[in-house]
Amino acid sequence: MTRDERRVSSSQVVNIADVRRVAQRRLPPVAFDYVDGGADGEVTMRANARAFQEVTFRPRNAVAPDGCGLRTTVLGSELAMPLLLAPCGFSRLIHPQGEIAAARAAGKAGVGFVLSTISAYRLEEVAAASSGPRWYQLYLVGGRAAAEPALERAWRAGFTVLAITVDTATFGMRERDVRNGAAVLVGNNLPAKIRFLPQLLAHPGWLAGFLRDGGMLELPNVIVPGRGPMPLAEAPSALTRSVVTWEDLRWLRKAWPGPLIVKGILTGDDARRAVDEGAAGVIVSNHGGRQLDGVAASLRALPEVVAAVNGKAEVLMDGGVQRGGDIAKALCLGARAVLAGRAYMYGLGAAGEAGVARVLAILRADLERAVTLLGCSSVGELNRSYVDIPAGWPSQSS
Ligand SMILES: Cc1cc2nc3c(=O)[nH]c(=O)nc-3n(C[C@H](O)[C@H](O)[C@H](O)COP(=O)(O)O)c2cc1C
Repeated sequence: MTRDERRVSSSQVVNIADVRRVAQRRLPPVAFDYVDGGADGEVTMRANARAFQEVTFRPRNAVAPDGCGLRTTVLGSELAMPLLLAPCGFSRLIHPQGEIAAARAAGKAGVGFVLSTISAYRLEEVAAASSGPRWYQLYLVGGRAAAEPALERAWRAGFTVLAITVDTATFGMRERDVRNGAAVLVGNNLPAKIRFLPQLLAHPGWLAGFLRDGGMLELPNVIVPGRGPMPLAEAPSALTRSVVTWEDLRWLRKAWPGPLIVKGILTGDDARRAVDEGAAGVIVSNHGGRQLDGVAASLRALPEVVAAVNGKAEVLMDGGVQRGGDIAKALCLGARAVLAGRAYMYGLGAAGEAGVARVLAILRADLERAVTLLGCSSVGELNRSYVDIPAGWPSQSS
């Protein structure tokens, strides 16, 4: 067993909160808070988790389920369980193997991997590391001229679905990142980085990896015409000028040969608009509470979106998924699959690929147990009758 595997396989690491604690010990605060934090007062981030607690199960007991099937198909991608790793930018800051490690673990577990535009690895390298379904997530940093060649490369490299994130009209106010000076850490001003010395020295495992890894300085999938790869330090400000609009969606329908899925939908109206503009799927998401604080928990918005889409597109959700039971609840409320962001990023920070693999094993065992205890023999049997939602939640119409 490797040192990484040992770190996440002790009897003290049984759920995602335990993995989070290991990551917190291993990462300097500036890196840990980048993953762990949300926008403003983090009200929506906490609401995402609380919403799962507020939905309760209605099991069918005294039945003996015949096995437990977790397989499903999402927009043509066959998944061993209804889970994808959500696109997470700057992953290489958390572990030098970043997206490579996460994509490899996802492939081995048979779950999907969604590569963020904000990746410091070439998308071809990530594709080569992944043996499973892979999707590409688009931000228009660098504009359409930078996006078009990247989309061609992504399609050629076997990314089959394009996820378009639409909830970033500007960058969310991540207060922890501002206080910690996260932008300075990824910037080019070396003297300014002196402030990090104490916390970096206190985390030698992470520091050794960070220093050995010279590659985290640019975005090799955002090639700005006439300039080359966008420097990583420019990404946050470029993001504030790069909102994807409905007009862009029309262009993307031509630029991308495969299915499009719109990420960041919270209302029935936007869901219908996305479907009318040609999206084959929508992801109910508030960006993990990292953008507009004060919006509803994703799980709470899910039934309205499912009703509005009315079977014309596939509906996924993310935000707050930390247990297999959470996945089951989202499926009961109409999601075809869920995405997890922080859960796997904690694994990455705790132990690289081994940490992500451990997170996926925990979620898989959890989900299998939840489905069986509900009295079902496959995830396909889950439906609205297996949960109660709190009074006051919109349940069907929008
Ligand atoms: C560290 C981090 C980086 C993220 N980067 C991106 C990104 O580059 N593109 C994107 O569409 N969403 C990004 N997200 C949002 C996730 O894709 C996802 O919506 C969110 O993490 C789900 O909530 P959860 O973390 O509670 O699972 C990021 C989230 C985190 C935690």
